[in-house]
Amino acid sequence: MKSRLFSVSLLLFSFAAVSVMAQEKGSILFEEKCAACHLKQRPSFEEMNTMIAPPIMGVMTHVKDVKTAKPEAVKFIVDYIFDPTAAKALCMKQSIDRFGLMPSQKGNLTKEEATSIAGYLYDNYGYGK
Ligand code: HEC
Repeated sequence: MKSRLFSVSLLLFSFAAVSVMAQEKGSILFEEKCAACHLKQRPSFEEMNTMIAPPIMGVMTHVKDVKTAKPEAVKFIVDYIFDPTAAKALCMKQSIDRFGLMPSQKGNLTKEEATSIAGYLYDNYGYGK
């Protein structure tokens, strides 16, 4: 009984560790692949004037408005990373008017990396986060 309890807690611990690792991977990949354009924090007055893409919490709020469930949101983001078009965009039209369409990141990251980033973004950004 005791050893069974131990196995169960070990299993739970492993799940927690795996999910923490996934979070970290997504966060590191975002820094490497997306943060040059998308700010992670709310922009300062100065950043408001110099930013070259919408900050990611705003992006995620718009994405989650339409793609409420995580699998749909992740699917949308992964597709947009590689094949952005104005017709697909869920952000405000002003974003594209101001910054231009996001350049495709094809060749810059793998689909697996994109999926990891998208999951991390869904879990951490949008709606006051
Ligand atoms: C070279 C700059 C640049 C890089 C790098 C970049 N983006 Fe973007 N992104 C933009 C711009 C500009 C927009 C706003 C215009 C638009 O929606 O296409 C945007 C918009 C978006 C949107 C909103 C799409 C919509 O519905 O309108 C998502 C989601 C997004 N980016 C995710 C990412 C992720 C994830 C990465 C990293 C893999 C990334 N971007 C890398 C410039 C960039």
